[in-house]
Amino acid sequence: MYFETIQHGGCISYLIGCEESYAAAVVDPVKEKFDRYLGLAAARGMSLRYAIDTHVHADHFSACRELARTHGIPIVMHRVSPVPFVDIPVDDGETIIVGKLRIRILHTPGHTADSMCLVLEDRVLTGDTLLLGATGRTDLPTGDASQLYDSLFNKLLKLDDSLVVYPAHNYKGSPNTTLGEQRSTNPRLQKKERSEFIEQMATLNLGMPDHLTEALRTNRTGGKTVGQLIEEATRDISFMQLAEVKHRLDQKDLGFVILDVREKAAYESSHIPGALHLARGQLELRVDEMFPDPTVRILTYCQLGKISTLAAHTMRCMGYTRAVALDGGFQKWVDSGYPVEK
Ligand SMILES: [Fe+2]
Repeated sequence: MYFETIQHGGCISYLIGCEESYAAAVVDPVKEKFDRYLGLAAARGMSLRYAIDTHVHADHFSACRELARTHGIPIVMHRVSPVPFVDIPVDDGETIIVGKLRIRILHTPGHTADSMCLVLEDRVLTGDTLLLGATGRTDLPTGDASQLYDSLFNKLLKLDDSLVVYPAHNYKGSPNTTLGEQRSTNPRLQKKERSEFIEQMATLNLGMPDHLTEALRTNRTGGKTVGQLIEEATRDISFMQLAEVKHRLDQKDLGFVILDVREKAAYESSHIPGALHLARGQLELRVDEMFPDPTVRILTYCQLGKISTLAAHTMRCMGYTRAVALDGGFQKWVDSGYPVEK
């Protein structure tokens, strides 16, 4: 079996491949590692057959939808998952066949209602049901500490003690140990009474994950993240470096219009010398009146360089094919000690 661990911050995804048939499955893929999964599979001569999410993630952006869309592979999730584009809804006790490999589904609600663990011959991918030295939290949508208790003590921990645990998170770089070792050393598993286990989960006082609502929105609907919108726009336009703009300003030979797309108050307090103003929110409505000639060369900028990327992209879509964005924002311009106009 080919088995690769791919880490992104504290999130772990896995590439599992059959070395006889060259079929592979990716488990809990994140958008940021999209190209990595394809590269790893290709380097081993394998092709992806399944994208599996162990549950709806609230703390990262799943790449399942994108993998399905671009590579025509089915998405596998538990049948109670609220995700509307699951191709193979699965349930407890069922098996996904990847070449000669068998991945058995264990429904383990608790962290979320749709959580499942994936059991292979010598290991178990525990999603966020069981982490190394911890468990998944139960205070996010559809979480339930009593269900997690059952999933752990009456299901997962009934499996063979020698199975090696591969969770969906590993924040501290803990070594992968066996289920047996987790049972005896994992502090959360020492509360063996249901009531004390539930109380322990209720008093963890964990902060909310970054981008919680954005992750739930995109993972449940297949919609795009803000980062993805900006990345896609970035691919479709060209940019101009800050130093290049400064140089051209110094030469008094710009060759383009500078367009500040921030809100009016920000523009009025200070801006790049000579810049015109058209807020991003008004762009589509007012651009024709402001620039009747679509062949005009325009440089957009905003505070951080992200909204201006979207603005230049929108303008290109509208036919302003010489719209470019500043590589960096007004903030960087000021930090570089470049001149501003009040
Ligand atoms: Fe999770």
